[in-house]
Amino acid sequence: MCGIVGYVGTRRVVPVLIEGLRRLEYRGYDSAGLVYHYEGELVRYRARGKLSNLEEVVDENIGVASRTGLGHTRWATHGAPTRDNAHPHTDCTGELVVVHNGIIENYGALKEELRAKGHEFSSETDTEVLAHLIEEYLEDDLVAAVRQALARVEGSYALGVLWAREPQKLIAARNHSPLVLGVDEEACYIASDIPALLPYTRQVIFLDDRELAVLEPGSYTITRIDDEEVLDKKISTIDWNASMAEKAGFKHFMLKEIFEQPEAILNTVKGRIIPDSGQVDLPEIGLDDETIRGIERIALVACGTSWHAALVAKYWIEKWVGVPVEVDIASEFRYRTLLLNDRVLTISISQSGETADTLAGIRLASQLGSRILTICNVVGSTMTREADGVIYTHAGPEIGVASTKAFTSQLAALFLLTLYLGKVRETIEPETLRELGHALVGIAGVIEEELPTIRSQIQELIERYYDSRDFLFVGRGLNFPIALEGALKLKEISYIHAEGYASGELKHGPIALIDKDMPVMALVPRDGVYQKSISNVEEIKARQGRLVLIGTRGDEHLPTLTDDVLYLPRVHDELNPLLYTIPAQLLAYEIANRRGCDVDQPRNLAKSVTVE
Ligand code: F6R
Repeated sequence: MCGIVGYVGTRRVVPVLIEGLRRLEYRGYDSAGLVYHYEGELVRYRARGKLSNLEEVVDENIGVASRTGLGHTRWATHGAPTRDNAHPHTDCTGELVVVHNGIIENYGALKEELRAKGHEFSSETDTEVLAHLIEEYLEDDLVAAVRQALARVEGSYALGVLWAREPQKLIAARNHSPLVLGVDEEACYIASDIPALLPYTRQVIFLDDRELAVLEPGSYTITRIDDEEVLDKKISTIDWNASMAEKAGFKHFMLKEIFEQPEAILNTVKGRIIPDSGQVDLPEIGLDDETIRGIERIALVACGTSWHAALVAKYWIEKWVGVPVEVDIASEFRYRTLLLNDRVLTISISQSGETADTLAGIRLASQLGSRILTICNVVGSTMTREADGVIYTHAGPEIGVASTKAFTSQLAALFLLTLYLGKVRETIEPETLRELGHALVGIAGVIEEELPTIRSQIQELIERYYDSRDFLFVGRGLNFPIALEGALKLKEISYIHAEGYASGELKHGPIALIDKDMPVMALVPRDGVYQKSISNVEEIKARQGRLVLIGTRGDEHLPTLTDDVLYLPRVHDELNPLLYTIPAQLLAYEIANRRGCDVDQPRNLAKSVTVE
């Protein structure tokens, strides 16, 4: 959803901007642009498409002796992905520039008003209106002009503003779009996300909604947009390092992140569970035992892959804790009639902690008196700051647009939460708690051991499937959400049409699609619903469907149904979703790679969906 980066300090600015944009490119890659101060003027470069196009345009000016600048990578909302619509945008004079992430909702009315005053526009974007609006108020005090302009603006924004007449001043402001400041002794930075700052500083300040920062080399002040009183904001130290956001020899971030899953799962459970004693502790959830015992219902809210994690959690929590669980897609949740109160616990699940619909969902739930818990990967993100309690997943930065390690670590966190709630409400026997805790900690090792074999088996398989037009994924019980996740991964990175179904649902319609050209990946572990799953697979076979079966090692029935069988070891049934996700992810990855798709930056997508 657009990435912005800004710098004011002592380094040459263009490499800082380019490196920052490279680390934010996952947020959008429709166009890229940058601007820097040079000899009293603002020099601007923009290019359609990926950052590499911008680098070509900037060319030898990369080393220019400028120390202040802004950069932007765009995911188009208003206006096509053209060069004219690329940020930074300027006012009439070209002396003032703005980069922006978000949506200015009243830009149409403001544009008309500004046109009537003689402003001419060169793009279709809402952001350009902002530049002209600031110009309208600008005499000799840039900060005052930004404040006045923002008082008129409705919508969401994270923005950076530069003025040719003040070469050592950068202004940043935020409302409903993420923005983080980086600080050190010689410089200040702004960025939409932490990875852009990691090569330079790990000291960061999270701007809150309607805050404004004035940055100069090595110093800053932060106020509310509508108030000049200086705020004393906390500096946080990020424990991610720069290399965590690098590919480390893997061809794609997605592949690296698939292989990082054992570590991500371990980091999520580490320190929170002692399997030998069955001890599970989650003090950070911000709920005392009495409140936990009083919970009457749980509402899970999330989007996309995180919603699939929520669907798995429903099975776990209802089975082990005995509390009814509702699962909602956040964009539906926020517009339906919500029957929430202080006895309903609302849990948001989000890798980024910035997804606009999920954020709106928890705000509504909070207004209705529900307590909010968030399961999130990004430390300090908006959701974590607005929730009553947080379970961090500690998966490390996830750069590939298709979520992988964030998903399995969400599952680990949700299983931990299930165990904890079951412990406090005494719905899980101590012996069972120990057994489940063991299984959870152990799953990381199993995945680690199996990953290389699964990958090579998938690589052999995909020659027969990579040019398919459609794909179905089916599973039952805990593996039904994994079928949905497999289908989502395949469609988003390989552009093959794919659907996930509960196996038992096939005969209610989708089975009509089955013929000799329809590949079906069926997840059939030897679990409590195995016989039912196999009956569904037989129905597919009877209609000549091309089956890929993922099942339990030693299951000799599977090769009688198809040649394409991939075996996984037997783990505790409850942990199957973590294990069975791996072949689904790798199938999508290998097919997309074989088809020559842009795995880490699939078309039309962005990593963090900060607009509705
Ligand atoms: C798919 C994917 C998306 C995200 C969704 C929610 O691979 O990554 O479906 O899961 O946009 O994002 P978060 O978890 O950041 O709220």
